[in-house]
Amino acid sequence: MAGKFYGLGVGPGDPGLITLKAFRILEEVDTLCVPRSSSDRDSLALQVVTGLTGKKYQRLELSFPMSRERTVLEESWAAAGEEVARKVRRGHRVAFVTIGDPMFYSTFGYVLRHLRSCHPDLEVETVPGVTAMSACASLSGVPLAEGEESLAVLPAVYGLDQLEDVLKRFDNVVLMKVNKKVEEVAELLEKLGMKNRAVYFSRCGYGDQYVTADLDSLKGRRLDYMSLLIIKKRGFSGNTGGETGGLTG
Ligand SMILES: C[S@@+](CC[C@H](N)C(=O)[O-])C[C@H]1O[C@@H](n2cnc3c(N)ncnc32)[C@H](O)[C@@H]1O
Repeated sequence: MAGKFYGLGVGPGDPGLITLKAFRILEEVDTLCVPRSSSDRDSLALQVVTGLTGKKYQRLELSFPMSRERTVLEESWAAAGEEVARKVRRGHRVAFVTIGDPMFYSTFGYVLRHLRSCHPDLEVETVPGVTAMSACASLSGVPLAEGEESLAVLPAVYGLDQLEDVLKRFDNVVLMKVNKKVEEVAELLEKLGMKNRAVYFSRCGYGDQYVTADLDSLKGRRLDYMSLLIIKKRGFSGNTGGETGGLTG
């Protein structure tokens, strides 16, 4: 069998949200990429698939330093791409499993870009997954966007001025990687009279998932990286109060 590289989205945490296609590919591949960084969160996707197929996989360790320096990051993506290419050229079927969707804020995209430019002959397939924001919207019971409404998605690296501008221009806003920003975002929402228009979701789909519309209750807490905030100008009227479990830290 010829080698092939897969980017597999496995959903935000609940193994029931893995697609049939991703599951079938997990049964076929022999190697799983294991991202290594100074935090263990990159391996969460592996935890989601562990035990699903009952297969023993070879592991391809890829190192991604937690750095903001572009050159350091680019070197790590290129090195990871080279590791993958070597393995695939030896005939292996290698899967890079990602939380949510592989084409949405995932390291997979950087590795893919390297392969496309330096190894364009290698066979690659990307399988989409359920994004975390979709799962959180389902949990809230309120659609992310409807009809003519607009939707903006921001990572954590926004300035508050930028966020204020986005909040004025968009009907709905999703803040990814929000754990370290919740307090300042809450202050801004208060200033704009929108505090009761936001819902915080932590570890959606895990046993300890948590959802709350009371942003003040999050003050001073160490919040989990797997958390996001949905802000809806027209407000929520779904399931937004202390779903299950508690917050970490
Ligand atoms: C690197 S991004 C990965 C996004 C992912 N590829 C997707 O499609 O949703 C990580 C961020 O996704 C969000 N996230 C991922 N899983 C989540 C979950 N189970 N509950 C809440 N937020 C989650 C958090 O905002 C987290 O900081």
